[in-house]
Amino acid sequence: MKYSQKVLDHFMHPHNIGKLELPDAKATEGSPACGDQVSMYLKVNEDSKVIEDIKFQSYGCASNIATASIITDMAKGKTLDEAKKLTWKQAADELDGLPPAKMHCSVLAVDTLRKAIKDYEIKHNLASEDEFKKTTIVEELKHIIYPKVGEDIVSLKMVKYVGFENGVATVDIEIPKFDQYRQNVADEIREHLEKYDAIKKVEINM
Ligand code: FES
Repeated sequence: MKYSQKVLDHFMHPHNIGKLELPDAKATEGSPACGDQVSMYLKVNEDSKVIEDIKFQSYGCASNIATASIITDMAKGKTLDEAKKLTWKQAADELDGLPPAKMHCSVLAVDTLRKAIKDYEIKHNLASEDEFKKTTIVEELKHIIYPKVGEDIVSLKMVKYVGFENGVATVDIEIPKFDQYRQNVADEIREHLEKYDAIKKVEINM
């Protein structure tokens, strides 16, 4: 697998690594794609809502460490609202790209950052737990990367239908029967959606 020099630099010498004592917010997120985990810790200025410090601990691959390193660099000095808008594509671009099969590693880094921001907002009554809707499923599916090309399955128009009724989430996917990632995509959909309490059953048609 070919990595850019920037990925290698951030992997060998990660920025913002470690843990903050008494952080204002924190989050740990796991990747359904591989089981790796990242934790992030934030120090936030209460008046300006600027992220003054951010650290991470990684329990994962080289891309996991590199993307957590770059995303924490990008988030530091930004307000929570600005940091929330950072995307996994920006993180991957900032690293001069990632191999397609490793794009999910940058999804994990961005998801952890967003979860830590959400933790701050909930603690400070700036946000409440999201109400579950059908659009929540679509948003979640945007975090599933088709490893062959390194794009998410919604952007690739592989998702043909999403439904949610009586706790049953239905997802129709267009993917050829012989596709080597068919089972992998189905497993990821299941793992991404089963973490929601509102979803009792996941039905995938493909
Ligand atoms: Fe798991 Fe990279 S392979 S985050």
